[in-house]
Amino acid sequence: MNNRAQWGTRLGFILAACGSAIGLGNIWRFPATAYESGGGAFFIPYLIALLTAGIPLLIMEFSLGHKFRGSAPLTFSRMNKKAEWLGWWAVFVSFVISTYYGAIIAWAIMYAYFSFGQKWGTDTETFLYDFLGVSQVEAGQTGVFVPEVLIPILIVWAVVLFVLYKGVRKGIELANRIFIPTLAVIFLIIVIRAVTLDGAGAGLDAFFSPDFSRIWEGEVWVAAYGQIFFSLSIAFAIMITYSSYLDKKSDITGNAFIVGFGNSSFELLAGIGVFSALGYLATQMGEPVSEVVAGGVGLAFVIFPLIINEFPGMNGLFGFLFFASLVLAGMSSLISIVETYVAGFSEKFNISRSKAVIFGGGLAMLVSLIFATQGGLNFLDTADYFINQFGVAFIGLVEVIMIAWFLRKLGNIQEHANSVSSIKLGGWWKVSLGIITPLILGYMMFDLFKVNLL
Ligand code: PHE
Ligand code: NA
Repeated sequence: MNNRAQWGTRLGFILAACGSAIGLGNIWRFPATAYESGGGAFFIPYLIALLTAGIPLLIMEFSLGHKFRGSAPLTFSRMNKKAEWLGWWAVFVSFVISTYYGAIIAWAIMYAYFSFGQKWGTDTETFLYDFLGVSQVEAGQTGVFVPEVLIPILIVWAVVLFVLYKGVRKGIELANRIFIPTLAVIFLIIVIRAVTLDGAGAGLDAFFSPDFSRIWEGEVWVAAYGQIFFSLSIAFAIMITYSSYLDKKSDITGNAFIVGFGNSSFELLAGIGVFSALGYLATQMGEPVSEVVAGGVGLAFVIFPLIINEFPGMNGLFGFLFFASLVLAGMSSLISIVETYVAGFSEKFNISRSKAVIFGGGLAMLVSLIFATQGGLNFLDTADYFINQFGVAFIGLVEVIMIAWFLRKLGNIQEHANSVSSIKLGGWWKVSLGIITPLILGYMMFDLFKVNLL
């Protein structure tokens, strides 16, 4: 392919890469993870993970995509014929994630609407189960689709497929140019409002007060590296694909630093906003903050509705802005995951982007409909568990070991990155990828198998 699509501008690429990185992981995963892993003390392993794994791997993936100019499978096979399967594995993991990420965004759309008038009532947990149709399953009722979930899922996929159909510049780049600045503005408004709430201080105290003894626990390091991998969309085939659309003259290392620190700044901001709001809720309920801390689905769809119920004025608007930020952050990530297999299929089978969007994206959309059924929530738990436990860390580990030790390509990649970048890579980069990252990811895998098998 000599006419490979390209980003319009450097900013366009940075926004798209940040759009992929900034997602549900920042808003609902990071705050609770940090809180449970030592609070303020978590920032030490977290920063080390960012500097020894996050940014180095981002530089590596950007260099690979930029140098070999292909989706992940094609890039790996151009590096070494025998490595193509690793790209397909990452694509497969991305495919699975995309099917449930789309469903979660669909729920957020409905909750943005429910915010006006707080249609979830006071028992927000029961409401969620009813909304998802879980209660019907428990009552032994059959019947397949839950229309309130089905319709927004179809809308989410329609938007994603349309964006991808429009291509790299007129689709992905344009969407991110709109989504990411809007997200930043909305999120700043939310955080500023949240920190001025009654009880915000108690929440921030809970979030930041450090428990340094935790630093000696392996678990905490596993949590830090896991968060960085998921949060930066590393080892998902995404960043390789996005960087394959870069201009020949691109500051690879500089871009990686901007995306890495941009994502972490957003994460920190989310932690501050979420814990301020949790502090407020705890104060209203007369309970300690620890009683209301949650992450994931529970935080967004059970606890946040409670916060919105208690909100001092303009509840509907605050709720709408919160769920809108989930939708925007989620959409820009979903676009990036689906692009991995759209690009992969179109190159492998030599078909046009439109056909790849229709077949690949269409297939994912159909699979995604599982989550619009009454058992959807259970599937989601299983899929999420499988992916987080055996997907990312494992691919990351195989990726670095293969490149650093089997193919011995770190030198070439470093040379390539240095030939175009403003910041020149030195020893820390090779040591991080060749030694530190494999050791820690290896330990993570060992830890996982221990937990699962023993
Ligand atoms: N990086 C995203 C987040 O923090 C998660 C994600 C992972 C998105 C993989 C797409 C692919 O939420
Ligand atoms: Na992220």
